[in-house]
Amino acid sequence: MPESSQATEAPEVDRSLLGDAGQLLEDTVDLRRRLHAHPEIGNELPGTQQTILEALDGLDLRVSTGTSVSSVVAVLDGDEPGPTTLLRGDMDALPMPEDTGLPFASEVDGRMHACGHDTHVAMLVGAARLLRQRRAQLRGRVVLMFQPGEEGHGGAKLMLDEGLLDDHGPIDRAFAIHAIANLPSGLITTRAGTLMASADEFRITVTGRGGHASMPHDAIDPIPVACEIVSALQAMITRRVPAFDPAVLTVTRIQTGTAFNVIPEVAVCDGTMRAVSDASRARVMEGLREVAEHIAAAHRCTAVVEMVDNGYPVTVNNAGAAERTLATASALLGDANVLAMPTPVMGAEDWSYVLQRVPGSMAFLGVARSDDPNPAPNHSNRMMVDEPAMVHGVALHAAMALTA
Ligand code: NI
Repeated sequence: MPESSQATEAPEVDRSLLGDAGQLLEDTVDLRRRLHAHPEIGNELPGTQQTILEALDGLDLRVSTGTSVSSVVAVLDGDEPGPTTLLRGDMDALPMPEDTGLPFASEVDGRMHACGHDTHVAMLVGAARLLRQRRAQLRGRVVLMFQPGEEGHGGAKLMLDEGLLDDHGPIDRAFAIHAIANLPSGLITTRAGTLMASADEFRITVTGRGGHASMPHDAIDPIPVACEIVSALQAMITRRVPAFDPAVLTVTRIQTGTAFNVIPEVAVCDGTMRAVSDASRARVMEGLREVAEHIAAAHRCTAVVEMVDNGYPVTVNNAGAAERTLATASALLGDANVLAMPTPVMGAEDWSYVLQRVPGSMAFLGVARSDDPNPAPNHSNRMMVDEPAMVHGVALHAAMALTA
């Protein structure tokens, strides 16, 4: 049942969360802006880690930090026994310039919080405060996961390898929010099943034999072979992948050659592939190798296909968890602020590693400014955030931990 149209029983939601999250907005904005001005990238984010530790100080949480990554994990126990809920905010920025002109824009050249992870951290800290205030109501345990290295560095996987899911007792459910710059401000949207695609980077190295450009018969030219492979890969996608279980394969770079009169020995094609199921992902990987190797062989070249990066798997929301997310968001924010997503998106997330092991979900939070008719998307050098939308994120994080 891919659509979230089945009405779930409305959960008991503490509506005062929304007002209390609103009271925290000034602090949430302040924290977000400080992070925004000092972006860090990858798995080592010492400044961001320090900012988080300071923000959590005084909340009486059990706080620990990572060894292989600069993560922060904070644990809060409710006064009553109950399930353990994992809530996550990723911490890292992107290696790109910022051109927003905002007064709190990045102070680091070539680095920008252009995926909203600054808001994720700020919202999770806000949720920690709300939950701390409600310790008497909280049944069970909350584990707050502040995660470096989402943008292709596999930070979530490293935190799992360090024992995140084992060190705090069994984790019963998991929830994360991602800000989306071109969805209406405050809108919560998600879906049961596949939410985001897998992402794999590949490299095809086509090797022939170099020679004089005027006498190709004495050489084995890898360039037309590389071109043929690129075209054939698109045909392979349309013929081999089911239309309702889609995949995308894009060659983004072809590197070869040095001069107008030299046939090079090697042509290298790099690209990315996305799929919304493990089955399609496997089909495309298999097809990629077969097409490249056999077309090369037909022209007396060789082709070696490497998966450059062990990419993120498909992000799959547990159906029940996604329904609970939508129902909780509706009860908290009103139906007008909640939408069941009709289809997955082709972006990818390392939250997928957590959802492989814990029944949980991710929801998207719209942060587009209403006065902007054409908001710049995530990963744009002009990406902006309507900061009051963070109130919904703070309140929903807390509500997901508080509802039974
Ligand atoms: Ni992101």
